[in-house]
Amino acid sequence: MAELLSTAPEDIERAARALKEGKLVAFPTETVYGLGADATNTTALARVFEAKRRPTFDPLIVHIARSEELPSVADLSQLSAERRTLVTRLIEQFWPGPLTLILPKQPHVPDLATSALPTVAVRLPAHPVAQDLIRRTGLPVAAPSANPFGYLSPTRAEHVKEQLGNKVDFIIDGGRSDVGVESTVLDLSSEEVTILRPGGLARERIESLIGPVHQIDRTTKHPTAPGQLPSHYAPRAALSLYPAGGIPLQFPAQGERTACLFFSDASRAQWLASFQSANPGMEAPLCQVLSHSGSLIEAAANLFDLLHQLDALAVDRILAERVPDRDLGPAINDRLYKARGEAKGNH
Ligand code: TXA
Ligand code: MG
Repeated sequence: MAELLSTAPEDIERAARALKEGKLVAFPTETVYGLGADATNTTALARVFEAKRRPTFDPLIVHIARSEELPSVADLSQLSAERRTLVTRLIEQFWPGPLTLILPKQPHVPDLATSALPTVAVRLPAHPVAQDLIRRTGLPVAAPSANPFGYLSPTRAEHVKEQLGNKVDFIIDGGRSDVGVESTVLDLSSEEVTILRPGGLARERIESLIGPVHQIDRTTKHPTAPGQLPSHYAPRAALSLYPAGGIPLQFPAQGERTACLFFSDASRAQWLASFQSANPGMEAPLCQVLSHSGSLIEAAANLFDLLHQLDALAVDRILAERVPDRDLGPAINDRLYKARGEAKGNH
């Protein structure tokens, strides 16, 4: 069973030593908890894939503690001068933070980390514990989200303990992850700058710095890039996703424990009023709200936490509404889309 560590310097030092010995350490980042391993140690990397039951064709993100370390994992000389300038501007503006860059890789980065792609995903997390840990190892640290493949990402140490407690050596408890959804993955290695995964850094913020970027449609059933598998981030309950305000007033099946997931207090109140007039005297289902005030930042921070809570309550079915498609909205809708019932039991 994993040993829980605090964020005291001596505990972080122990975790750093463990990473250097090829062990697995789950640690907090501002997005979600990561399952860390020495990115230069192929045995440690193999343990990550095994612990997560993750297919090896899905590459990992390599985390660094300082932007000066970027050239040790990414070969920027393969980019045009113009593209290199773009990389510098993005890093200056958004690192440390929830932005992962896909760049040409250095030859010594193991194929297992990158699924033998010519590119590597690199991120400099903003969380002070993550930075301290990586700095103390003196190594690049590969870290996927610390959840079994296809299941909800962890935003608390307890989530990691429940899901992977018997597969990792240490878990550093740094409290709740502030951002709550994974980093935005931006591909700078191909012709068009493209968002491969919407995440904790909104597209609008990237575009306000570098102009229009492409975004691939992650709701396709035919993956075009690694990590585009349609079933992902799934709770145990079957989840159905509806347009804003579109959660049905008649439930699909009798006898199931159903919960509704609303964007805001306002949308819940409106739905409850319609439910009561359509079903006089009927008890309303459990109604959860992502953000009382209708803040997308708060909704992102609460998303995985609420889905974990609904799973702990052994709810059979979750009826969720989409949130507005701006700022962090696309990242939230993407996770909800991929958490849909079809994914249930796949992993
Ligand atoms: O916020 C985050 O990014 C968290 C924390 C722990 O940093 N990490 C995370 O890792 O979400 P993971 O492994 O769950 O997701 C990594 C994503 C996957 O969708 C993967 O396919 C994509 O990044 N990726 C990694 N390397 C890539 C590459 N060379 N080309 C394209 N996509 C890549
Ligand atoms: Mg993940």
